[in-house]
Amino acid sequence: KIMTLLCLYKYPCYFQECCQPDWISFNPKGLEVDLQQRLFGQHLASRIILKAVNWFMNNDNTKKPLVLSLHGPTGTGKSFEGMDSTFVHLLISTVHFPHVSQIETYRSQLQQWIKGNVSNCERSMFIFDEMDKMHPGLIDSIKPYLDYYHKVDGVSYRKAIFVFLSNAGAETGHDREEIKLCDLESALSLSALNNKSSGLWHSSLVGEHLVDFFVPFLPLEHKHIVECVLVEMKADGLKPDTSVADRMAGDFIDFPKPERVFSSQGCKKLTVIGAKQEIFMNLSDKKRQ
Ligand SMILES: Nc1ncnc2c1ncn2[C@@H]1O[C@H](COP(=O)(O)OP(=O)(O)OP(=O)(O)O)[C@@H](O)[C@H]1O
Ligand SMILES: [Mg+2]
Repeated sequence: KIMTLLCLYKYPCYFQECCQPDWISFNPKGLEVDLQQRLFGQHLASRIILKAVNWFMNNDNTKKPLVLSLHGPTGTGKSFEGMDSTFVHLLISTVHFPHVSQIETYRSQLQQWIKGNVSNCERSMFIFDEMDKMHPGLIDSIKPYLDYYHKVDGVSYRKAIFVFLSNAGAETGHDREEIKLCDLESALSLSALNNKSSGLWHSSLVGEHLVDFFVPFLPLEHKHIVECVLVEMKADGLKPDTSVADRMAGDFIDFPKPERVFSSQGCKKLTVIGAKQEIFMNLSDKKRQ
């Protein structure tokens, strides 16, 4: 969702995208507006991402690449979309590295691949999805690139951005607008560290402070699901109907019982349902009867 965030990559050269500072120009206002308007209910994540990326893109003397770890429950907006650039690379651990027996091969492929991409463009961005399912050995293999080295084998990684997505992390209760970063950061890194099933935290990424920012995504509430449904309606060419959206959202709010404040699927299943116009049509018809 936040993929549009890096409006950095939107200016193509005449025929083909090229990696030059003037072309990969960062648009902080665009990022802010995008986060505000398109990412619902994640005020904390938005703020951290905006600050981190602004700082990183405006600093010529960064000592290491920017490393962000986005985590939170399913369907809350962690996955990026709408970003189509030669310099943004998405790796999904279960898709790209499915076989434990192949770890050694993956390790060297991954290293070569990161090196190749950054040699080609220092402002490359790497997104590792399903990081909590990634083999610790594989995570270890990317550590040198995340660290404070001037160069690794003749290549500097200090201008690159690494984004890790995972479901590991604390969940939180009420009054989300009141939640402050300081309340969450230690809770998040601790709970992530303590989550034995997640590969990322078995490795020493966290302990060695290679992750610069932990970005918490919170479970979504009724009003956020309504916003997602309205977006889906528009995308399906339907007239946004708040009362239908309101009712649909109600079905998604399922935990904790019995209060039911949050959606355990976030906005995720909505995309599937949203694609089926007839469901909205049905609902609208029923309403009319
Ligand atoms: N906070 C949000 N604001 C706006 N839309 C959202 C939000 N969260 C989810 N969505 C919508 O739901 C879809 C699925 O969400 P997304 O893929 O970002 O989930 P995720 O957090 O990556 O979940 P998972 O951990 O399962 O990968 C998005 O493409 C988007 O359309
Ligand atoms: Mg995702």
